Amino acid sequence: MRSPLRPRPIDLAPHTEFDAEFETEFKLDATPRFDLRSYDQSDFDRGRSGGFILLWWLVQAIVFPLTLHSMSGVRAEVLRWFGAKIGNGVIIRPTARFTYPWKIEIGDWSWIGDDVVFYSLDRIVVGDHVVISQKSYLCTGSHDFRMSSFDLKTGVIQIGNGAWIAADCFIGPDVTIGSNTVVGTRSTVLKSLASDKVCWGNPCKARSDRSDTLIKAG
Ligand SMILES: CC(C)(COP(=O)(O)OP(=O)(O)OC[C@H]1O[C@@H](n2cnc3c(N)ncnc32)[C@H](O)[C@@H]1OP(=O)(O)O)[C@@H](O)C(=O)NCCC(=O)NCCS
Repeated sequence: MRSPLRPRPIDLAPHTEFDAEFETEFKLDATPRFDLRSYDQSDFDRGRSGGFILLWWLVQAIVFPLTLHSMSGVRAEVLRWFGAKIGNGVIIRPTARFTYPWKIEIGDWSWIGDDVVFYSLDRIVVGDHVVISQKSYLCTGSHDFRMSSFDLKTGVIQIGNGAWIAADCFIGPDVTIGSNTVVGTRSTVLKSLASDKVCWGNPCKARSDRSDTLIKAG
């Protein structure tokens, strides 16, 4: 059967030279290098029982959307019940999502925006006065694509005090973002970023020093 990737031009008959080139280049029916039947994450420690995780997912799915925009305190308290360490004055939007709260720490006065995802297979540690803007994805998980069994790998994410992760960024496993660093919108962060920098791009890199730009409020 022909792949939907590239529609056949209507004036070409089947089995032309064009088809042969396409099939050589894309080889859609090659032997898969993965054997996903051998995937095994029995060594991975989710940190709580299956029942507790299910309870958290139900509570998150029901309680978070039902709380008003301004009720960050309620959402923070619910996260604390499930083992998260959440500081004072933290703002958490109702559409933010947390996979395993017991692996999450958020310091005082930090903001977590709409549709932010804490994919916390491993620990995520966020400092004080940190802003994580809407749709950013904090991803502590990956896989070893070199293994046919597609082994799961996880790594801690740490974000220092006073950092800003702008909208729609991807932060990968084993990434540390130093204090007071700005990560520009739509950045892909796969390596750690030093403190006090303004960074952006894919891959995300430091572009300037933040300390040059600071203006004190008031
Ligand atoms: C990182 C950021 C704060 C930098 O702002 P700034 O210091 O005013 O920088 P400028 O807008 O003057 O941009 C300087 C240069 O960097 C580039 N640049 C800045 N941020 C970039 C990004 N995230 N990706 C790619 N290029 C970027 C600009 O295109 C510009 O390039 P040029 O010199 O070729 O014109 C800003 O770009 C940003 O990402 N804002 C976040 C917006 C957001 O997420 N809002 C949601 C929360 S309310």
